[in-house]
Amino acid sequence: MIELFSVTKRYASGQVGLDNVTLKIDAGQMVFLTGPSGAGKSTFLKLIYCEEIPSSGSILVNGRNVSSLPRRKVPYLRRTIGVVFQSFRLIPRKTVFENICYLPRILGSSAQEQKELAYETLRRVSLSHRMNASPHQLSGGEQQRVAIARALMNQPEILLADEPTGNLDPELSEEILRLFLEINGQGTTVIFATHDRDLIQRVGRRVLTLEAGQLTGDQKLPGELNDAIGPGQGTMGPGQGTIDLEEEA
Ligand SMILES: Nc1ncnc2c1ncn2[C@@H]1O[C@H](COP(=O)(O)OP(=O)(O)OP(=O)(O)O)[C@@H](O)[C@H]1O
Ligand SMILES: [Mg+2]
Repeated sequence: MIELFSVTKRYASGQVGLDNVTLKIDAGQMVFLTGPSGAGKSTFLKLIYCEEIPSSGSILVNGRNVSSLPRRKVPYLRRTIGVVFQSFRLIPRKTVFENICYLPRILGSSAQEQKELAYETLRRVSLSHRMNASPHQLSGGEQQRVAIARALMNQPEILLADEPTGNLDPELSEEILRLFLEINGQGTTVIFATHDRDLIQRVGRRVLTLEAGQLTGDQKLPGELNDAIGPGQGTMGPGQGTIDLEEEA
């Protein structure tokens, strides 16, 4: 569960990133975060994974106050949170396997463990056949799926996505969105930031709207895609609630 209590983030430059935001996101929820450029979407996500600290207010992630977390404890928090960015952020000269095994390797997993986990995780994003490819040999949508696999390697409780479809065309964007819905259906809490309201229009989940750092909307969209996918609010166990990505393509 993620809880924000009167959270304000004012940058050193004086810019307000977030302005007195209070809200709660239950474990297993899928939430969209929307609003125009500069509204505070990235700030919101950075505060949750402790890339930034709030100027005032507090943030609880799974009951732990992360707004006052000592720097040395941040890596432990990050192990429970996966993050995906618009620009994929893959290491160009490494293979898909090496890219996604970075963290397990430094955490001391054996080569065999890394291989099994990598294969299993790539299978979740339908890319197990590209394990030894380099990022430049993959399409944009495939690169983003690798980035999602990398975020899933730690089996995070929370998956944060900052404009993950920002560099993709509408068709691929929907494919990536469906993948996030599927991951959510397997129990992971997902926060998906996007300014693309058309993309989320049909999904039927909770939508938080930010404007100039303030939370100006918190609504539940009715949606057709939602019905095709099922409840997906974290009540299903792993492996259940899986949707076929081709189904409606
Ligand atoms: N590191 C920083 N230093 C100073 N100001 C910042 C910093 N990061 C963000 N801001 C400011 O905080 C406000 C919110 O920015 P943020 O990046 O959170 O918006 P956003 O909703 O993610 O926008 P976009 O859709 O363009 O990604 C903006 O006014 C921005 O200029
Ligand atoms: Mg942003």
